[in-house]
Amino acid sequence: MSERAPDGRRARQAPLGAGDTVLVTGAAGGIGRYVVGACVDAGLRVIATDRVPFADDRAAGCPVGDIRDADFVASCLLGPDGPVAGVAHLAAIPAPGQVSEEETLDQNVLGSFVVLQQAGRHGVRRVVLASSVSAFGLAWADRDLSPRYVPVDEDHPTMAVDCYGLSKVLAEEVAAFSTRRWGLPTVCLRFPFVGTGDRLTGQLARVHEDPGGHRRDLWAWLDTRDAARAVRAGLTEPLSGHHVISVSADDTSALQPTEELLRAHHPDSRLTRRLPAHSAAFDNTRAREILGFRPHHPWRDERPPHTG
Ligand SMILES: NC(=O)c1ccc[n+]([C@@H]2O[C@H](COP(=O)([O-])OP(=O)(O)OC[C@H]3O[C@@H](n4cnc5c(N)ncnc54)[C@H](O)[C@@H]3O)[C@@H](O)[C@H]2O)c1
Repeated sequence: MSERAPDGRRARQAPLGAGDTVLVTGAAGGIGRYVVGACVDAGLRVIATDRVPFADDRAAGCPVGDIRDADFVASCLLGPDGPVAGVAHLAAIPAPGQVSEEETLDQNVLGSFVVLQQAGRHGVRRVVLASSVSAFGLAWADRDLSPRYVPVDEDHPTMAVDCYGLSKVLAEEVAAFSTRRWGLPTVCLRFPFVGTGDRLTGQLARVHEDPGGHRRDLWAWLDTRDAARAVRAGLTEPLSGHHVISVSADDTSALQPTEELLRAHHPDSRLTRRLPAHSAAFDNTRAREILGFRPHHPWRDERPPHTG
């Protein structure tokens, strides 16, 4: 699922570096706040936007508006002191059930379309979009599904039967379209559960109490600080074309060994390689090879396990 940018768009191939300006959408959200910090730490100038009013001293500006409003997005991309070079697009409805299915599609697909088309028109050099392992389709399914094979990679066919998963499949497709249309390099990061602090503690407690209840997320997780580092790498690593990249921790959130969990909960899934101990059930090869990304924040070293 990688495409090369058309020839003659070389100017668009330069990665972002210190001094460049990046627009972070969804900057008031759980991941967005950390992305603002990771970008500022790398010397990038940040315009942080969200539809809810918020303040962030680290940002050069915090315009408030809706990403489905093309004029608003265009004004953000022009920047207060010159054009924006990259976009980290995190604004979305992050799970099913928060709003109607129609609204989820509208926010996540039309929103991505507007951001990516405006980025293309304004000569932005890179867009990183927060996708989800939900695009592969198990996480929110209303029925028992199993992956065809494990570890699950980005080429696994989608099995999505929920509208949030569909919205992420379609947002990735909009990114691929924007790469073809504008020669705009796009990176879609498929995140699993993302959390740190109390949010992560709660998730670990739930997984440890009922590992079978988490068979649909394949016990995958990622610390929010690492998710922000992955977004930053998507902006600053040299690359061209369109990429869909799974980014999870290298281990699971569970106490049981991964192969034992798979035998118990996904017995028909084909194991394409051994997964020793608590190895992740998602394949992180692309994240390592394309983004040079390794997670820095394990949970096992940092906190005692919850035993229910
Ligand atoms: N948190 C996770 O576990 C997780 C997992 C996988 C993927 N993701 C994806 O990561 C991204 C960020 O998730 P999050 O957990 O930070 O969500 P969040 O709800 O905490 O933050 C999203 C932010 O986007 C803003 N927003 C939503 N619609 C908007 C619109 N139309 N215009 C402007 N702003 C809008 C919201 O106000 C909110 O501040 C989302 O795309 C989500 O689908 C999150």
